[in-house]
Amino acid sequence: MGKQQPVIRFYSGEDIPLELHKARIVQKLNLVPIERRLEALYEGGFNTFRLNTRDIFLDMLTDSGTNAMSDMQLAAMMHADDAYAGSQSFYRFQKAVEDVLKKKYVLPAHQGRAAENILAKAYIRKKGDLIPMNYHFTTALAHITQYGGRIVELLYDEAFRIDSSHPFKGNLHVEKLEQVIRETGVENIPFIRMEASTNLIGGQPFSIQNMREVRKVADAYGLRIVLDASLLGENAYLILQREPEFAGSTMGEVIEIMTGLADIVYFSARKLSSSRGGAICTNNHDIYLELEALVPLFEGFLTYGGISVREIEAMAVGLYETLDETMIRQSPDFIRYLVNSLMAKGVPMVTPPGVLGAHVNAMQLCEHIPQTQYPAGSLGAAFFLISGVRGMERGSISNQRDEEGNETYADMELLRLAVPRRVFTLSQIKYVEDRLVWLNENRRLIGGLKFIYEPPVLRFFMGGLAPVSDWPEKLMAKFRKDFGDSL
Ligand code: F0G
Repeated sequence: MGKQQPVIRFYSGEDIPLELHKARIVQKLNLVPIERRLEALYEGGFNTFRLNTRDIFLDMLTDSGTNAMSDMQLAAMMHADDAYAGSQSFYRFQKAVEDVLKKKYVLPAHQGRAAENILAKAYIRKKGDLIPMNYHFTTALAHITQYGGRIVELLYDEAFRIDSSHPFKGNLHVEKLEQVIRETGVENIPFIRMEASTNLIGGQPFSIQNMREVRKVADAYGLRIVLDASLLGENAYLILQREPEFAGSTMGEVIEIMTGLADIVYFSARKLSSSRGGAICTNNHDIYLELEALVPLFEGFLTYGGISVREIEAMAVGLYETLDETMIRQSPDFIRYLVNSLMAKGVPMVTPPGVLGAHVNAMQLCEHIPQTQYPAGSLGAAFFLISGVRGMERGSISNQRDEEGNETYADMELLRLAVPRRVFTLSQIKYVEDRLVWLNENRRLIGGLKFIYEPPVLRFFMGGLAPVSDWPEKLMAKFRKDFGDSL
């Protein structure tokens, strides 16, 4: 483990991602007829979060809690130590955090946003406190604003160029960071947040060179860096692929450098290492003490943090497995394959291929739908209708309203098709490609959506929408015409 793996090439020269695992437990899937899928959309308010998996064929909503677990993780879960306090499972997890993330202190939390809640509660001391970051994640932003804080997003222009070839679109704009710090004053900046594999711009990594520069600025002004490490392994893998200095390095070496540049590392273990849980890690005893009291208040005792001890065992083993490049690379390699195949057939995608999922550029594919009618949400609903594949809207529906209650339109309108680790087969990926190519050719039939029920916080989860016309029925009729009696 930890050693970089040799390349496996096909004689044909094709770029086919080869799995280095086999399936030993499987789950049966159903593909229901398009007529049922249309009903399901009306029942779920045209919001893919509200669909029932009974109606879903391939669930590409997220990788969160849906990555495949390994045999070693399941085995570890069997020797969990049930104890309210002082559980051996926690000490094994603590050792894994120290071995892999190189942090001595760890505070468990029930998932990533629970860690965000604790950090926001502890460090946002007054209204208007500003958190500079490469880009927000929905839950991080919601917690920061909940406690009166604000954010400023500091990406380079290249990050917003959808069809870019820039290897590190998640880089934090260092010059702008210094300017923001000078204008705002260090006393109003609780910390700088860097998100590994910047989720909402298409799972795009930052480079170690960039993080080193951010560290220099942070040190010059005495500021702390908080690293959102939920997608740490994938960011590290892309550093191995794309940053020449690390071409021959191991996952472990790159991860150690990344976490070493941050004062606080937090993560959603639903993504990083397992299927449940989260944690906040640091080497700084003062930071540990600042946060310690909040864990029993919001989560649970310090050695279980609201997570079952079985899940803590799985988190520990999962952390060690993050050092195995063959495990981490499966999802980004499938994504690269899918993105490249779709691009070759004219489907507009975010490039370069990132991590977590393939991201369709709905602003372009649905250019006839104004942002006021949510092109990414419309595309997500249309794609589910014609394929049974559930993706996630990552556009204006996922944005929150500003303080005055006005709509804020997203920089990008994306449909994310998540590729959870070691879950799908290549023929299923080919099916996604096939249906998306058809939908692109029939894109003019996709229409807009409007809110009919809008919750005040994180509206994208439970919000209800309706089509602005009878476009779903027309799209279904065209599907029947072209596919006959096919599901
Ligand atoms: N940070 C990042 C970068 C994330 O992607 C997520 C979750 C969180 C924090 C919050 O973690 O869900 O355990 O509370 N992302 C999921 C997704 C929900 O589908 O992208 P959580």
